[in-house]
Amino acid sequence: MKKLAFVAAVAAVAAFGMTNCATCHNGSMAAKLDTLTPAQIVAKMKEFKAGKGNATMVSIAKSMTDKEIEEAAKKYGKKAGKAEAKKAQQEKK
Ligand code: HEC
Repeated sequence: MKKLAFVAAVAAVAAFGMTNCATCHNGSMAAKLDTLTPAQIVAKMKEFKAGKGNATMVSIAKSMTDKEIEEAAKKYGKKAGKAEAKKAQQEKK
């Protein structure tokens, strides 16, 4: 049953191009993503996109554009990194 739900989640991601990473990365099916910085997530996603690592993630990464990956990384990555990015942006202005 659990496996069926997992397959359904993968199919939903593939069909709708959803970037709802928390569907799986909720601490039960897969590790939470907020332990990684957005930059680390982007780096991992690039590896997945190149076909390396977890097969589920490879198919998800391949269905995403680089821009979508960056947005997802910002959304799900470490919040401290987000605050820093905001600060850096404000300093630029
Ligand atoms: C269908 C389920 C599923 C979805 C949706 C999903 N992932 Fe994953 N992801 C996994 C699994 C399974 C692993 C490998 C096991 C683990 O790291 O806990 C993984 C691994 C990863 C890793 C590597 C973690 C590490 O520490 O090495 C990253 C980064 C990642 N996913 C990012 C994402 C992002 C970003 C999204 C949304 C765009 C996403 N994932 C959506 C299932 C999923």
